[in-house]
Amino acid sequence: MKKFRMGIIGAGIFAEANIYPSLSLHFFDDVERAAVCDLNSERADRLTDKYGWKKTYTDYHKMIEKEYLDAVIIAIGAKAHPKIASDVLRLGLPIFLEKPVSIDIEGALQILDASKETGNIVQVDHQKRHGLAWNKAREIVSNTEEFGNIVQIESKQHGFTVFPTFYTCMLEWQSHNLDLIQSFGGEIEKVEAWSHLVNDKHGSLIAMLRFKNDILATLGWGTFGGPGPYDERVEVISDKGKGVIVTNSRVVTYYDKKIGKTWTSNWDPVSENQSHVFNGYVGGLRNFIDCVKGVEGKKPVPSIEDEVQTMYWLKEIAKKANIDIKWDAVSSGL
Ligand SMILES: NC(=O)c1ccc[n+]([C@@H]2O[C@H](COP(=O)([O-])OP(=O)(O)OC[C@H]3O[C@@H](n4cnc5c(N)ncnc54)[C@H](O)[C@@H]3O)[C@@H](O)[C@H]2O)c1
Repeated sequence: MKKFRMGIIGAGIFAEANIYPSLSLHFFDDVERAAVCDLNSERADRLTDKYGWKKTYTDYHKMIEKEYLDAVIIAIGAKAHPKIASDVLRLGLPIFLEKPVSIDIEGALQILDASKETGNIVQVDHQKRHGLAWNKAREIVSNTEEFGNIVQIESKQHGFTVFPTFYTCMLEWQSHNLDLIQSFGGEIEKVEAWSHLVNDKHGSLIAMLRFKNDILATLGWGTFGGPGPYDERVEVISDKGKGVIVTNSRVVTYYDKKIGKTWTSNWDPVSENQSHVFNGYVGGLRNFIDCVKGVEGKKPVPSIEDEVQTMYWLKEIAKKANIDIKWDAVSSGL
């Protein structure tokens, strides 16, 4: 059977840590790792060899012209994404695109337009949507007969201290949390938010969200406190007095009025790359490839439409909290 020909643009630090090993070490037997493209040919060559890809390019136009690809992964950086993503879509290929898809909503809309115009799909890499603990929590809450209807969500995520501005931290890091909250709550209708910044980079923020279906959520975000063992916690509460708590994308606690049951991802590493499965990178890539292949019932999760919403509400939260909407370049190599 003909293999699915994948190309990848970006051989940076994050991609090396997560995307390349996910594809090489986790049974993507139907995928031909056809071509790597990076402006830095040394990095591209190194990852091509290390992870068993076939060819290396420094110009993605050439790669697409020559390689007869079925899809492209793009992992470059928020500022460059809108142009390159739109180009690739218009060159006829679906894309798996790293978050943030842009530094602003205009860039995200540019990608959405190119996707609509060409009919080529975009899946955004918010990997937690495919993480094992989050899948477990979603399975519990989607059984509404047993769990009831969600009435409230409490979420906290205390992020890295490396980002050059507080808004960069929100866009690069807390956007994952906002994406997740919408995967439980649905469409947001209204936000209120306050911040307490100690300087341009550091501080804390709280936001209150009201969803269109009347679910309420509180978010506590900041740069202090993470990313250690307690950086993220999400609790989803139902009108039957039940709840699910997910801690650090690993531990899921399900409770009702009498008992609490805990499910933990098996964190005893069978191989050193288990985290790619737990964290959702492998599931996200599998979902994307299946979507492109036309597997029934599959759709991009999250889609570029979802990401436009996330970027819109992230900015609204920042505006309400008087956060300067200023993005600055950041690399995982920092
Ligand atoms: N999903 C997550 O949790 C997560 C975590 C960290 C980073 N990321 C995202 O992954 C992306 C990559 O991050 P990184 O830290 O690896 O970045 P990086 O700066 O280490 O690497 C980016 C690479 O892109 C290459 N590049 C730039 N322009 C190019 C072009 N026109 N053509 C080909 N190659 C080009 C650079 O040479 C560099 O090697 C970013 O969007 C980042 O936000 C996602």
